[in-house]
Amino acid sequence: MTDGRPRVVVTRVPPGSALERLADDHDLWVWEENVPIPREVLRERTARAQGLYCMLTDTIDAALLDGAPELRAISSMAVGVDNIDLDACTARGIPVGHTPDVLTETTADLAFALLLAAARRLVEGVDYVRAGRWGPWDPSLLLGHEVHGATIGVVGLGRIGRAVARRATGFGMHILYHARSRNPAAEEETGAEFASLEELLRRSDHVVILVPLTDETHHLIGAEELSAMKPTATLVNAARGPVVDPAALFAALRDGQIAAAALDVTDPEPIDPNDPLLSLPNCTIIPHLGSSSVATREAMADLAADNLAAALAGRPMVACANPEVVARR
Ligand code: GLV
Ligand code: GLV
Repeated sequence: MTDGRPRVVVTRVPPGSALERLADDHDLWVWEENVPIPREVLRERTARAQGLYCMLTDTIDAALLDGAPELRAISSMAVGVDNIDLDACTARGIPVGHTPDVLTETTADLAFALLLAAARRLVEGVDYVRAGRWGPWDPSLLLGHEVHGATIGVVGLGRIGRAVARRATGFGMHILYHARSRNPAAEEETGAEFASLEELLRRSDHVVILVPLTDETHHLIGAEELSAMKPTATLVNAARGPVVDPAALFAALRDGQIAAAALDVTDPEPIDPNDPLLSLPNCTIIPHLGSSSVATREAMADLAADNLAAALAGRPMVACANPEVVARR
């Protein structure tokens, strides 16, 4: 601490007024460029920091923590924490803040938008019109598959998955879900039916992936899983790119093993502009926009600020990803 205020490194300028919340009581250093902070700069800046306000593009691993002996709190402006070695943080007594709840409904909206876009071939239609190809009305043009009344399979029934299931009830859909454990409250609320992953893939018309990325969910959807799906099915990934094996997905879409996919996330991110997935008309890819409404991104930024401020003041975070931590003072 320089003037008694904890030194805080901010790895990207967040939207809204989150930094103003921190400015008075913290000695802020902010990476102001509109790209992720380079690893070396992050190492250098965290070497003497007590707090870190970071983004999902920053890799927070044991090596970084070892070079940051004074760090007492980390707060990420995201719900997913797969970029952070939580065990390493817990072992060092460092609580990790994240932003659940505030983005649930917004991300579910986007996941459902992707489902509708993929099933009804929205982006193909847009491209068709933009290319000047719109001729007289055609009874067989760009036929898609039904969303209303169809069977949706939600893989991962956390907060966002449940919010997607709620939307599906409004479309009169039959809802299957697969998760590590059954969720009786969500079953009660949405009528969702628990299924094994294999059964869900086999029976669903639309599969929406909403599991966090962990060692267990890495490439959870690969060649075998895709081959279990219906040839008319759509796949939506609104979780993390590596949950789906991109080479297997490319083959499945190319060969008509499934009808379409819509991805908010890829592996790697950003996707290479020459990636073969981008050559497929039945693959819609958007740049990780799940939570990207003005109100939600500001709420995430504010919550991340509040998490950090709380921990640095010795109070519990509003939302902590490793609540088992015994925080260091
Ligand atoms: C976005 O993907 C998040 O984890 O908040
Ligand atoms: C994230 O908030 C989830 O649990 O799906």
